Amino acid sequence: MLTPSQIQSRIAGRRPGYSLSRDLYCDSGTYDADLREIFHREWLFALPACELTKTGSYATLQIGDYPIVVVRGADGAIRAFHNVCRHRGQRICAKETGSAPKLVCPYHQWTYELDGRLLYARDMQAGFDPAEHGLKPVACRNAGGMVFVCLAEEPPAFDLLGDLLARHLEPSGLADAKVAFTSTIVEKGNWKLVIENNRECYHCGGSHPSLCRTYSDNPRMTAMDGPDSASPDILAHWTRCEAAGLPSRFLHHPDFQWRLARIPLLNNAESYTMSTKAAVARRMGRMPFNDAGSLLFYHYPNTWNHFLGDHAITFRVLPIGPTETQVTTKWLVHKDAVEGVDYDLKTLTEVWLATNDEDRQVVEENQKGILSPAYEPGPYSTIQEQGVIQFVDWYCGRMRDRLGSPSAIAAE
Ligand code: FES
Ligand SMILES: [Fe+2]
Repeated sequence: MLTPSQIQSRIAGRRPGYSLSRDLYCDSGTYDADLREIFHREWLFALPACELTKTGSYATLQIGDYPIVVVRGADGAIRAFHNVCRHRGQRICAKETGSAPKLVCPYHQWTYELDGRLLYARDMQAGFDPAEHGLKPVACRNAGGMVFVCLAEEPPAFDLLGDLLARHLEPSGLADAKVAFTSTIVEKGNWKLVIENNRECYHCGGSHPSLCRTYSDNPRMTAMDGPDSASPDILAHWTRCEAAGLPSRFLHHPDFQWRLARIPLLNNAESYTMSTKAAVARRMGRMPFNDAGSLLFYHYPNTWNHFLGDHAITFRVLPIGPTETQVTTKWLVHKDAVEGVDYDLKTLTEVWLATNDEDRQVVEENQKGILSPAYEPGPYSTIQEQGVIQFVDWYCGRMRDRLGSPSAIAAE
């Protein structure tokens, strides 16, 4: 089990442009440090806001050691709390999703308002102050219909991304959407391998026959190394979409922690379907034409997303062990779209259910290979894997900044 100093030494000694050393993908000390320094400090995508349909709708998630509940209040606001009773610590909401007028602890029925205030605690003695025993809040932001949470006492800045997301997602109509289907899978691989796999399409031709009907694996289409490198196809797409009122151009944080870009699908495809046609007759938002492509949005460390004219797909990545990662995918459609009338679930979900499973297989095989003592870091393709290089650089930069220098840690 690596110490922070050893992790820092591995990172300081890494060869830029190469995959990471074995321990950084499987060691339990690295896993603890990833939780502590990344997942417990960064903004994380939790769920689409439309999943919390009414007052009292809630969803739970587990971020490392922390059980969290996200709930819609009577004022319509979405808030997040530590899902831990202030009496003796029971987890309050055990289900993944639910709805309740108040949050009631199942152990001794302490009862909390949806804004976290303690309303009722039976037979507590004089001097007990309910105001001091409200649920502990977790930072929570709803940006354009995407709910993010952050466990840090002082979360990193979010306003710029929040504004951009609201502007870019507005035409996609997430406020008038519903969750049509949720898939949760566990991949037996380190969370960084899951993200690395997502950040390149070098593997798409060999792994994703159904996705490749509509999604281009040309690395320039996703403009991984910046808007100036975009292909003529994507430049023409941006011009056309922006003239029609769709924010589309490549935007990214200077360190590539997030990126937004609208890309065309292959051959004017409308959606990620086997037929290339829309899966949902009742369209989302206000897309001006059927072939507006997909708005791509990723945010390290835990989400990538596709917003199409007829549906949207959100992805959430949460580590559950050094070599185990949960991936939750949600398909969103217009709230008035009726299953069996406007869409059928198979047509809507089959391409990405297959793609997720194909990615699970490559990630698991990647992890198995890396577990071999014979593994050594290999070179990323600067043509195909620029996105992976950006992610690994971002991860190493964060860990370097937060763990301190190896010598400083060693002196502690
Ligand atoms: S632990 Fe929650 S009411 Fe007792
Ligand atoms: Fe893939």
